[in-house]
Amino acid sequence: MIKQKEVRILAIESSCDETAAAVVVDGRDVRSNIISSQIALHTIYGGVVPEIASRKHIEKINQVILEALKAAEMTLDDIDAIAVTYGPGLVGALLVGVAEAKAISYAKKIPLIGVHHIEGHICANYIESQELEPPFLCLVVSGGHTHLVKVQDYLTYEILGRTMDDAAGEAFDKVARAIGLGYPGGPKIEKVSKNGNSNAIPFPRAHVAGDAYNFSFSGMKSAVLNYLNGCQMKGMEIVQEDVAASFQQAVIDVLVGNAQRALEWTGIKKFAIAGGVASNTTLREAMEELCTRYGIAFYHPSPILCTDNAAMIGAAAYYDYLAERFAGLDLNAIPNLKLGER
Ligand code: KG4
Ligand code: ZN
Repeated sequence: MIKQKEVRILAIESSCDETAAAVVVDGRDVRSNIISSQIALHTIYGGVVPEIASRKHIEKINQVILEALKAAEMTLDDIDAIAVTYGPGLVGALLVGVAEAKAISYAKKIPLIGVHHIEGHICANYIESQELEPPFLCLVVSGGHTHLVKVQDYLTYEILGRTMDDAAGEAFDKVARAIGLGYPGGPKIEKVSKNGNSNAIPFPRAHVAGDAYNFSFSGMKSAVLNYLNGCQMKGMEIVQEDVAASFQQAVIDVLVGNAQRALEWTGIKKFAIAGGVASNTTLREAMEELCTRYGIAFYHPSPILCTDNAAMIGAAAYYDYLAERFAGLDLNAIPNLKLGER
């Protein structure tokens, strides 16, 4: 039986380079949201080193959970369920969170809930916009994923489009590296773009032939690399700000184009964005403008809820809790877990 009192979920996220824990009540009330970022550590290597990420998660996870409970003024005795990201992500990193959650679940006899990382990103919107309810369309743009998703109800997701190669965030990271900005690329490209001309270089707006909703970013990344090589061979000056701004605009145009088609063709009147790239101000403004033009309600999480965090995992887990979709102690990390699969 589902409890009638408030539901307090302790959520854990360790799928990539953030060790995070949060306490979320009734899916939308975030009592604590602790994030220990490893970005500084991985910056030295120009990207996330999986082995280092796993080791750091092991070092930090207990501390982060204790902090989350303390900030929420709770102990494990107050918690109704433990939620954890079990995929997709780096297998060694995921395993740290999954093993921790299983240990707590076993020791304290608290139900365990396995959460899909991308569902978590989408559910970050419920925290930010308390009135938001499915159905709605959501563009998930992160370092590992670019999905256009129809959220049919709290537990049903239909993928309308996805990237055929690189994720949007991955393309940002690769281009940033090529123009000497380093890791993580997205925020750095956004920053220097403010001083650049987005019309300076006409990078291609890639479309996947015969498909309205899928994305392809690898060709756009290659176009930037070719442009840089061409400049070097001709002895032309490379204006970093212009390359960044022109690339950012090309990616945004493609994201907006597919979103526009999906809104037109599905007739859905609510549109949300999610994932690390959704914290990009220029992208938000472009999506907001699109939605205003079409008379559609626009939703986006604040930047701290766009990038990886555990509050979003707690938000997603609440609906599993209500549906009594609990995991057993055989829950495993699934690095390539598909959206909608369990
Ligand atoms: O959602 P996230 O934290 O982790 C994944 O699940 O992948 O997303 C990280 C990605 C990185 O590729 C990062 O460069 C990108 O999000 N990102 C941004 C911005 N902030 C983070 N991309 C563009 N503009 C930003 N402001
Ligand atoms: Zn993520």
